[in-house]
Amino acid sequence: METEQISVDNHQDNDKNYRRAVDILTSGGVVAFPTETVYGLGALATDEQAVRKIFEAKGRPSDNPLIVHIGQQEEVHKYATGITEDGEKLMATFWPGSLTLIFEKIPGIIAPSVTPGVETVAIRMPDHPVALALLQTLHGPLAAPSANRSGKPSPTEAAHVFEDLQGRIPLILDGGQTGVGVESTVLDMTTNPPTILRPGGVTREMIEEVIGPVKAESKAPGEQAPRSPGMKYMHYAPEAPLFVIEPDATIIGEAIAALHVEGKRVAVIGPDDLTIPTADWYFALGPRHNNEAMAAHLYRALRQCDLTAADVILGVETDLTGVGAAVMNRLTKAADGKRYMS
Ligand code: TXA
Ligand code: MG
Repeated sequence: METEQISVDNHQDNDKNYRRAVDILTSGGVVAFPTETVYGLGALATDEQAVRKIFEAKGRPSDNPLIVHIGQQEEVHKYATGITEDGEKLMATFWPGSLTLIFEKIPGIIAPSVTPGVETVAIRMPDHPVALALLQTLHGPLAAPSANRSGKPSPTEAAHVFEDLQGRIPLILDGGQTGVGVESTVLDMTTNPPTILRPGGVTREMIEEVIGPVKAESKAPGEQAPRSPGMKYMHYAPEAPLFVIEPDATIIGEAIAALHVEGKRVAVIGPDDLTIPTADWYFALGPRHNNEAMAAHLYRALRQCDLTAADVILGVETDLTGVGAAVMNRLTKAADGKRYMS
């Protein structure tokens, strides 16, 4: 199958473009589209055959549940029940936006493959004009995981989707670079207090300001994480081993010198202002402590590392404030928990 890419950046003929995407979706196909976090690979969430195509295209394990994307907040009541006052408050505050909420599902509406083995359903309303226009033209729910091949970083540009899924899906709606750059926060509302299963753009502090204390699931790699099915699956690891390292030019310089003695070439992912002249490659993510910029550029940098001949990648850590928690969660996972020890 040929993969068509349509730019929806320029408002030209966009009605026609959205109708084309909706035609594919209503006839049981899949379409990749931008959200404010990462690109998603969508199928009509009520169409079991269509949803299965997502798993096929991505090579995703079939027991890992998908997020249902909706274009209107009220739609949540069609698919979920037992929504608490806190749930309502969170939706009112953060939707549209990068907060996925897990509720008890109403059985028999969403296709079984969207919620395999669970009684719950994950729902979010994305905050991206293209995603919202698509959902509102479709008038239906889209099941959509990130639009990468399983085991690759989530795509933050249409080109990343094309790289991974070329020939496997019919259409990519190209809306340019995504904004947040890491996946949505996943908050399980069926536990008391609610549990953050995956940190993301909406931070723990932001959530707690609205509903009070929440739990954060242990994110230590290799640890059993029972409530989040996705956590037990293969996650992205770059081709070269990645080590998290302190944001200290002397320590990084010494690490590179030691690795060079072993004949290893080193790629570094870090802030703009850290000067590491001995790095064989340096991928800058943005100003130091600008965790938003780091989140926005992390996945692209990881993909770029895979295009180099680096033997080792050093990922410079950032602080955990704001979206920094999500950045460090993804970086630590990609490193399999490894830190550089001199
Ligand atoms: O930002 C995002 O969330 C992106 C964009 C496309 O919306 N989507 C995304 O989907 O990251 P995915 O499938 O790559 O990650 C969804 C995560 C997985 O870890 C999955 O296991 C978890 O959410 N999940 C989905 N439904 C769940 C449920 N009912 N209970 C527990 N975890 C669930
Ligand atoms: Mg994913």
